[in-house]
Amino acid sequence: MSEKRAEHHAEPLDLSRWEGLDPATIAIVAGRGPEEAGLPINVPPVLTSVYKTGPGILYGRAGNPIWSAFEETVGALEGGTCLAFSAGMAAVSAVLNGLPKGAKVVYSADSYTGTRQQLERLADKGVLSPVAIDVTDAEATVAACEGAELLWLESPTNPMLSIPDIARLASAAHDHGATVVVDNTFATPLLQRPFELGADIVIHSASKFISGHSDLIMGLAVTRDEGWYDELLRQRTLGGAIPGPLETYLALRGLRTLPVRLEKAQANAIELARRLQEHPAIEKVIYPGLPSHPDHEIATRQMRGPGAMLCFVVVGGGDAADAACERVEVITHATSLGGIDTSMERRSRWEGENAPEGLIRMSVGCEAIEDLWTDLTKALS
Ligand SMILES: Cc1ncc(COP(=O)(O)O)c(C=O)c1O
Repeated sequence: MSEKRAEHHAEPLDLSRWEGLDPATIAIVAGRGPEEAGLPINVPPVLTSVYKTGPGILYGRAGNPIWSAFEETVGALEGGTCLAFSAGMAAVSAVLNGLPKGAKVVYSADSYTGTRQQLERLADKGVLSPVAIDVTDAEATVAACEGAELLWLESPTNPMLSIPDIARLASAAHDHGATVVVDNTFATPLLQRPFELGADIVIHSASKFISGHSDLIMGLAVTRDEGWYDELLRQRTLGGAIPGPLETYLALRGLRTLPVRLEKAQANAIELARRLQEHPAIEKVIYPGLPSHPDHEIATRQMRGPGAMLCFVVVGGGDAADAACERVEVITHATSLGGIDTSMERRSRWEGENAPEGLIRMSVGCEAIEDLWTDLTKALS
């Protein structure tokens, strides 16, 4: 009898050829497809739902060459095997759905609102048993890991930019047999390599810095664990949360310039943080690159740079923060983050957000610093 094939068939990619290269190079040279004369240097988005029968992919929900190109590039940057999803939340949900019923999940109380709400929903339905914790309290987090199946970290956290000690917590979680997830959306693989710190799964909202142009929604899950790779692949193929080929093409195109974008955006963020600290309309600046940040020492040890996300609390609370957001002209008053454009918003305008009333979260982009500063100081006056 002839052999039967699984729909979700896919092999983890071989990433060994990228070992030893600088991430700034990997972002440009990985994911270029087969090295055959005459082929385009950019893998094209293949617009098809079905493939002619042969040894490769058969159906569009199971694979696309542009997914493989993007996944190879992110995988090489993170150092694991990557799967692209239709949204960051689809990648988050695939991990949570892969847990056994009733599993205890220890998670950062300051995680992205969507992740927290999804965990709370799954708790209400009796599917998971999540425990929220201040993950910057390492001792409490280690104690909470007793009996846990999963430790969910985000670093830096959204929105408070707290930095848990990933290596310490991952080691303790592993002692309890738990899987460790790190949402690396804010840091990107250029500033933080969670696998080197002990993570088992790395999550990204690729809608943010990875794609970098505020023009698409996508997610990523990266792992070194074969069991989890298989589980996540099944989740994606059977759950159907697949990315569109055009979005994936754009995401890979954006990823090619992540190193240069991030360098410029981070330099802008460092300068804005420094200047905002001296500004009379600002009560507090929260930025991992400032010595005043409570986790500055961990950030310096764990990250290759403090990143391009910056928070500040405006004197006068919520009304003053709203007024500043409404007055900016060069900076966009908008949610989300990680684009080449600088944007800001008062985080506690969102239901379920724990941030202080006057806290503005700013995603710093690549504009000229003096234009950003003039716009911001005008808005704060
Ligand atoms: C840290 C973090 N993780 C996950 C997500 C969810 O990603 P997406 O909006 O692509 O579904 C977000 C979205 O803002 C986020 O900030």
